[in-house]
Amino acid sequence: MQTQVGIIGGGPSGLCLARLLSLSGIKSVILERQDRAYVEARIRAGILEQGMIDLMRRAKVSERMDKEGLVHDGIVLTFNDREERIDMKSLTGGQQVMVYGQTELTKDLYDAVLKDENITVIFNAGDVRPINFLEGKPQLQFFKDGQQITVDCDYIAGCDGYHGASRASVPRDMITEYERIYPFGWLGLLSDTPPVHEELIYANHKRGFALCSQRSHTRSRYYLQVGLDEKVEDWSDQRFWEELKKRLPEHIAAKLVTGPSLEKSIAPLRSFVTEPMRFGNMFLVGDAAHIVPPTGAKGLNLAASDMYYLSTALIAHYTEGRDDLLDRYSETALRRVWAAVRFSWWFTSIMHKFNDDPIEHKIQIAELDYLMSSTAGKTTIAENYVGLPFDPTF
Ligand code: FAD
Ligand code: DHB
Repeated sequence: MQTQVGIIGGGPSGLCLARLLSLSGIKSVILERQDRAYVEARIRAGILEQGMIDLMRRAKVSERMDKEGLVHDGIVLTFNDREERIDMKSLTGGQQVMVYGQTELTKDLYDAVLKDENITVIFNAGDVRPINFLEGKPQLQFFKDGQQITVDCDYIAGCDGYHGASRASVPRDMITEYERIYPFGWLGLLSDTPPVHEELIYANHKRGFALCSQRSHTRSRYYLQVGLDEKVEDWSDQRFWEELKKRLPEHIAAKLVTGPSLEKSIAPLRSFVTEPMRFGNMFLVGDAAHIVPPTGAKGLNLAASDMYYLSTALIAHYTEGRDDLLDRYSETALRRVWAAVRFSWWFTSIMHKFNDDPIEHKIQIAELDYLMSSTAGKTTIAENYVGLPFDPTF
């Protein structure tokens, strides 16, 4: 088999990258370890920044998103029984975010990708290995139905998430990894109940952090900070709802509509960055290169800038014979990655309970109190929440 760009991973990064390339006539093969239903069913991100919205439009897969996505102008922070709104739109000169689930976005991308003549998707690709990418002759090897298959390509895009094969195949002395693991996780619950509030609520509470999010006017997504040793089986729906109510100001808790869960899962929190993001003819994209704790909803939105920079650079290579953008990919992508890693770490640190020492909560409240009293403080949160701009020189 032969193609121009070999893509490992058919999650949002791999699918969207393939579409952006295809619209400039560039061919790709996507190797996905799972099947389509499995990838589409994973409940993950829910908030799109302008950069991701623009990419979906550019990739011509935005019809349903533009119809069904809910545009939000602000978020609410609660702490010490106070409720404070950050009016992102007015603080950032008109920027907003959109509620549109990763499950829906992935479905839209697969609908387009599977009809696209420039893109071949191979599901259930086993033991995928990128090889010879440092020697300028990149190949992807994999097993399908017991047969070993090799794909010759010009470039490899590693879009295979945190546990993927691309980063793992880089010689250890060429890569630096930075990691922080947080001492808690998020227990998420999805339910067909109307959201407790029209905007998202991020709650700092003595008992731990809580988040009230949503997928539509009739579907809610809630999260609770839980200990790393907690098990989903120990959290009945009733226990979840009771704990959530305790972490919200009373007047908000009183409005909470509860119902049976459609899904419950626990995700650990980590900050992780790989440097560089290019190894010869292989480029890392999205979660394959970096992970942020979910506070602030940056994970998928950070993959968006990687997809934008890499697609722009590959298009410049194939259509203009220019390689300067490919040479700048890693450095440019990493600048925005570190900015989001910083914000996600900081927002996590002021909103979560790290230990039982009461001074910690007092200091968090003092910081939140100061931020809310200052236009500069609120603007800092708003600017980071709506997403920092992509590098305009790309
Ligand atoms: P992924 O979505 O991980 O896609 C990688 C794909 O590669 C997968 O389909 C996988 O099956 C495939 N793959 C993996 N290994 C191989 C291999 N060896 N060979 C072939 N294919 C392979 N972000 C937010 O903004 N908000 C959230 O609430 C949020 N919640 C999350 C909850 C969880 C449990 C996780 C794991 C992530 C969450 N994120 C969230 C992050 C967000 O979902 C990711 O940033 C986003 O999915 C990144 O997309 P990606 O395509 O880079 O990686
Ligand atoms: C969601 C997840 C987040 O991490 C976040 O900050 C906001 C919303 C969500 O899944 O809806």
